[in-house]
Parts: sequence; structure tokens; C-alpha cells
Amino acid sequence: MERPAWAPPGIDISVPSVSRIYDYYLGGSHNFEVDRQAARRAMEFMPGLPKIMQANRAFMRRAVRHAVAEGVTQFLDIGSGIPTFGNVHEVAQAASPEARVVYVDHDPVAVAHSRAVLGEDDRTDIVAADLRKPKEILASAEVGRLIDFDRPVALLLVAVLHFLEDADDPYAAVAALRDALAPGSLLILTHASYEGIPLTEEVAGGVVDVYRNIRNPLVMRTGEQIGRFFDGFELLEPGLVSMPDWRPDGLGGEAEEETPEDPYAFSGFGGVGRKA
Ligand SMILES: C[S@@+](CC[C@H](N)C(=O)[O-])C[C@H]1O[C@@H](n2cnc3c(N)ncnc32)[C@H](O)[C@@H]1O
Repeated sequence: MERPAWAPPGIDISVPSVSRIYDYYLGGSHNFEVDRQAARRAMEFMPGLPKIMQANRAFMRRAVRHAVAEGVTQFLDIGSGIPTFGNVHEVAQAASPEARVVYVDHDPVAVAHSRAVLGEDDRTDIVAADLRKPKEILASAEVGRLIDFDRPVALLLVAVLHFLEDADDPYAAVAALRDALAPGSLLILTHASYEGIPLTEEVAGGVVDVYRNIRNPLVMRTGEQIGRFFDGFELLEPGLVSMPDWRPDGLGGEAEEETPEDPYAFSGFGGVGRKA
């Protein structure tokens, strides 16, 4: 198989990756046949997966606009993925030209493509790092250059914590990041869950097996377990809810994003918390 220019040398393009599978679901072009096969296998168990992903992206855009409306214009987006339509820096900078965004991902394709998309924009950058090592993220040169921790920051952990197993101690990782944030900072989070899925857990569990087989386990958590990521934050209204139910009216600019009717879009949880 030939390696396209956007795939950095050294990556194994015979193994599916979480970020390229997600790119496929969102209709992107940075994926290989192995990724599409894995995505299709997962969709045999959960045909509505792309609807969940779209609801996730739409939630993320509404939450970013909300952050800017609250006066928070610095964004640390961990597990940011392969840039596609309506990325955090585009939404944030459209709402506030001074918005600064640092993306973080451990996937080489996500990092390389982010670099290409961000180009010469000196208010954005990308760090190749792992959420399981939050201190390395906080100590990175890019974060040091663009994020002022004396002022509020919007920390995005969108569709990423479900790729951390309990053995990775995801709660400790979130706590380490939280402790670096100034009061008034926001935590913007979504997470997969069996709650809200219009299927039995048994059927939906086939999806978990697909991710386990590509050695990127997908960890479904309950609403209660997901709520615990907000320790030290106060959940904004309407709380931790299914993604389309989080402030569906948005703050303007939402006309193109109608509330989805597909029941799959209501799987999983999204919420925004503010650090006291
Ligand atoms: C489902 S995508 C979500 C992308 C984006 N946040 C969104 O919601 O549209 C998950 C991303 O998290 C990244 N990821 C998974 N585990 C990670 C980790 N431990 N550290 C950093 N990134 C991670 C994957 O590479 C992938 O790009």
C-alpha cells in the first residue's frame, strides 16, 4: 500500500487508528481501507455511530462558542483528532479573533495534519503528547507559548477519555490538568456510555470488541462515573446530558445545525463545568 503525503513516515498503515476511523465517520479523507473496514465492522453493531460523532462535533462547537461568550478565549484541546469541518480554532477565532488554541494528540496523522492545517497561524499550535502524561502536556513549549494559566482556559476532553482505561487512572490525569487551571476555567467534556444507546448492552458491546481488537479499548462509563470527571468543577446548566440536549439553541450561528432526531445521537454524555 502506498503511503500518501499526509501520512508521516514510520506509521504502520496496516493497523487501524482511532483518529482515522473517526475521520471516516465524519466523512473525512484521512483514512485507509483498514480504518474503513474497522469502522464498518463497528457499524454492524451500532449503525448510528456517525450520528453520535456528528452530535459530538455539534456539541463541541456550541460549547466553544459558549466559552468565548463567557470571555474564555484560550483553549487546550486534548485528543483533538484529525482536523475536519468546524474545528475548535475556526469556531473560536470566528467568535473572537484573539482566541488561542493548543491542540494535543498522540496520533501521528492527527499531529501532522493539524500542523498542515494550522500553517503559519501563530495563535494556534499542536503538541504530540499523551493525555496519560498531563505534566508533559502542561510543560510543553507550545502550551507555554500560547496559554496563560493565570487566566481562565477552556480545557476540551471531547470523545477522548473513553480511550483511557481505568488502569491509566483517567481521573488523576483530569485532576492534574484541573489543578493547573485558574478559577473560571471551563471543562468541556463528552464521553461514550451504554446509557442512552437505543440497543441492548450486549449488541452495543460488539463495538467495544472492534476497538479492543485494534488495541485501543473503548471504555463505556456510566453517567455517574463520567460525572466524577467534573470533581472541582461546577456543572453548568443543563448539567451532564445527552449531547444534543446541551443548550440546543446555541448562541447564534447554529442555524445549520438542527437538533438531530436520530435516537443514536442521544447516546453518551456531554457537559461543561466551571472551576470555582
Ligand atoms: C474520537 S477522536 C475525537 C476528536 C475530537 N476531540 C472530536 O471530538 O471531534 C479521539 C482522539 O483522541 C486521541 N487520543 C486517544 N487517546 C489519546 C491519548 N491517550 N492521548 C492523546 N490523544 C489521544 C485519538 O488519537 C483521536 O484523535
